[in-house]
Amino acid sequence: MQKIEHIGIAVKSIKEANLLYEKLLGYSHYKTEEVKSEGVKTSFYICGESKIELLEATRSDSPIAKFIEKKGEGIHHIAYAVKDINKETQRLEKEGFKVLNKTPKRGADNKWVVFLHPKSTGGVLVELCQDVKE
Ligand code: CO
Repeated sequence: MQKIEHIGIAVKSIKEANLLYEKLLGYSHYKTEEVKSEGVKTSFYICGESKIELLEATRSDSPIAKFIEKKGEGIHHIAYAVKDINKETQRLEKEGFKVLNKTPKRGADNKWVVFLHPKSTGGVLVELCQDVKE
């Protein structure tokens, strides 16, 4: 793992959360992006070496909708930047972590992503991410 790439935060309304985060951070987001496959709309803020990713569900069967239903708004996942996502996934699997998708999928902000089940990581959904090289 290289650094915390971003912290994902589940919100009911990106519009309202943007107003809050603009006040909190003192500047605006640098992009919004919809990830149709995950049923989410995202809003990204730079914060030093890391980012904040706000996530709003776009459909009722979205993982974010289910998360908010169960736990309410709040921290949804921690994403770590990795150099070689396939190698890191194999290493973590060997260590006994439960990998949710062994084949990296396209996430927001031009990344390959793999998720680890919170049951195997002490209750925190973990995302590994690597920049997509065009
Ligand atoms: Co994320």
